[in-house]
Amino acid sequence: MTIHQPTNTAGETAGQSEYLPGFGNHVSTEAVPGALPIGRNSPQRPAFGLYTEQLSGTAFTAPRHENRRSWLYRMRPTAEHPPFERYTGAKRFAPGTTDAPLAPNRLRWDPIEAPAPGTDLIDGMTTMLANRDPADLEGVALHVYAANTDMIDRVFMDADGELLFVPQHGRLRLLTELGRIDIAPGQIALVPRGVRFRAELPDGEARGYVAENHGALFRLPDLGPIGANGLANPRDFETPVAWFEDRDEPVGVVQKFMGSLWTTTLDHSPLDVVAWHGNLAPWRYDLSRFNTINTVSFDHPDPSIFTLLTSPSDVPGRANADFVIFPPRWMVAEGTFRPPWFHRNIMSEAMGLITGAYDAKAEGFAPGGISLHNLMSGHGPDLASWQGASAADLKPHKIDGTMAFMLESCWPYAPTTYALDHAQLDYDAVWSDFPKAVLPR
Ligand SMILES: [Fe+2]
Repeated sequence: MTIHQPTNTAGETAGQSEYLPGFGNHVSTEAVPGALPIGRNSPQRPAFGLYTEQLSGTAFTAPRHENRRSWLYRMRPTAEHPPFERYTGAKRFAPGTTDAPLAPNRLRWDPIEAPAPGTDLIDGMTTMLANRDPADLEGVALHVYAANTDMIDRVFMDADGELLFVPQHGRLRLLTELGRIDIAPGQIALVPRGVRFRAELPDGEARGYVAENHGALFRLPDLGPIGANGLANPRDFETPVAWFEDRDEPVGVVQKFMGSLWTTTLDHSPLDVVAWHGNLAPWRYDLSRFNTINTVSFDHPDPSIFTLLTSPSDVPGRANADFVIFPPRWMVAEGTFRPPWFHRNIMSEAMGLITGAYDAKAEGFAPGGISLHNLMSGHGPDLASWQGASAADLKPHKIDGTMAFMLESCWPYAPTTYALDHAQLDYDAVWSDFPKAVLPR
């Protein structure tokens, strides 16, 4: 087995985590030599009395190229747990969206306020936008987190979907059943549906976004005429090697299931997977590795050129969710209005900002904030951005020091009650006072 020692431009953390390179690979890893069975998945007597458990991310009969599952060898079976009860500690996490008719308004949010002392990742989660019911196995939700306390004696698990972490401030250490992942702003990490984990905050506090995907697993997009390389390259995704903790003490489990939170308490840590193999696993990715492709002639390409991950729907080309980034890049288009054009889309767009400024909004969209432009909502550059770009001298120009992302979905998003109550009041004003075109007489 090759162990890949991580290097990245965002700065490594504790330096103890080890990773295997590649996206969706079939990998084998063991934290104790001899723990992983060879040549069969379910031996009669696994090594050391470990328990065998299959974790499926797709149906057993999914096509081979989409089939994702892993085999875990653990100290106790997951099945050994008391009944779950409702969890009421995270007031703004998974509250559901309002039943009121969804207004077609464009909305934008500032970063959420600082959390109270003692807030960990679970209680620090705020659900902002959601579409579809998790039971549909379609749709996405966008949460933000703000936390200042490590998870020590409890873990989280999401039965409703895979979780894509997008840090905006402060590092995260995700200690999962399948290994440890360290990420900083500028990196992202994915925890598969059903994988339990706890989160530590090496900087003492952390903020960011979480995209929760209820639908088909995120995958790399087809590249079409781009060719075999470009955008996010498979080798740059890193999956952690097996790691476990042997703790016989009470550990709480908080689980999201069908849009509600539930809890139970184990007498041990469930992060006790000593070895595993398969192709369903957490991973991390450094956004600076994204091979950005853009026009070198004229016009602003459709933002699909920036797609990092896609979750397809049943309609070809229409994504349940696309995760799209807007990284630093050269702008060289000639005779072109270079920022995004005015547009109305069949797709619904939720955006976040990790750092810097977004080139279509001169102000009001802060790192940690969110904007929402739903199905057929007219939007585009604000007045200041339009004026600036219309008058700009079109020399080659580098957009630098910025990283925005878009979670685009074919299903319109509904804001939660919290989100509706905390939206900016004057967002429509950024599109007011555009001068009227003057026709020849
Ligand atoms: Fe848009």
